[in-house]
Amino acid sequence: MKKVLIAGGAGYIGSHMVKWLSQRGLQTVTVDNLSSGHRDAVQFGEFIQLDLADRDALRALFASHHFDAVMHFASSIQVGESVQKPSLYYANNVVNTLILLDEMRAAGVNRFIFSSTAATFGEPKYTPIDEKHPQQPLSPYGRSKLMVEQILEDYERAYGLRSVCLRYFNAAGADPAAELGERHDPETHLIPIALEVAGDLRPQLSVFGTDYDTPDGTCIRDYVHIVDLCQAHGLALDRLLDGKGSGRYNLGNGQGFSVRQVIGCVEQVCGRKLKVAYGDRRAGDPAVLVADATLARQGLGWVPEYADLGQIVSHAWAFMKRHRNLAA
Ligand code: UFG
Repeated sequence: MKKVLIAGGAGYIGSHMVKWLSQRGLQTVTVDNLSSGHRDAVQFGEFIQLDLADRDALRALFASHHFDAVMHFASSIQVGESVQKPSLYYANNVVNTLILLDEMRAAGVNRFIFSSTAATFGEPKYTPIDEKHPQQPLSPYGRSKLMVEQILEDYERAYGLRSVCLRYFNAAGADPAAELGERHDPETHLIPIALEVAGDLRPQLSVFGTDYDTPDGTCIRDYVHIVDLCQAHGLALDRLLDGKGSGRYNLGNGQGFSVRQVIGCVEQVCGRKLKVAYGDRRAGDPAVLVADATLARQGLGWVPEYADLGQIVSHAWAFMKRHRNLAA
């Protein structure tokens, strides 16, 4: 039975990954410092509370388990916060990843799957964004993820560590069984915020900018279902286990939705009107971010199962209703 170390497995994407792998018969060991993750989100496999900065604890972990691969979801993820606190972002996202990679190397584990981001591209020069698009990140968050992508190239050349970097566009949705979902604190993402308004958990939604160069003036994003992201990680794992080479893939549905369209979809799914305030732009938001995921389809065989925005929002809504005890 293959065994996978999931770093950051108590977080939004990591916890879905643990479930996905366990349901397919793989063994998982989750490590998470619980700075933003939730212990109760890890419903399968072994859990160890551990901070990646703790090199000795990592060394002991690698000494006591034989891992076939490592999936790394543990990172700080807020673009705005990264501008205020770059030290935190470079420490968590770069230095701690380096510690993880070096302990893998010392233990002879040489397959690595990395959570990267559309934020590595910066302001799009063209759309949709394929893997040839220049990577010029605008924030310490985006730069920290790009640095790891570059470190991985060097580590492969020097140490033979093979990796797949998966650049998520807008991760969204929830476990179709509504057992897991998005639980950020504070929540900054559009869909859960809109759902909180729908559930009377928040008074209103602020739309950040209505003067973008898009058909309705609001930003366009490519929302991709969390389970489809898990599927891509599973395929990336197969690729590395099959002995194939490293890869870099953009993950999105290739279809963009504006903030107004997302609000319309949430209103439809929840069956109520949202209270919306139209405000200024948020710093650092590109007008349009849409993925060209052709390479993921060709190289990994990735076919998203839940590409429909209504379904993404429905799953997120079902989880929120259950988790926050909202009336059905
Ligand atoms: N938005 C609002 N109001 C809100 C929240 C968001 O109008 O209350 C807008 C944003 O301005 C943006 C869109 O909704 O135009 C989506 O915003 P999210 O915060 O949900 O997602 P982002 O596109 O900002 O962020 C995502 C990932 C980041 C990643 C980034 C890449 O969540 O991790 O894409 O740019 F860095």
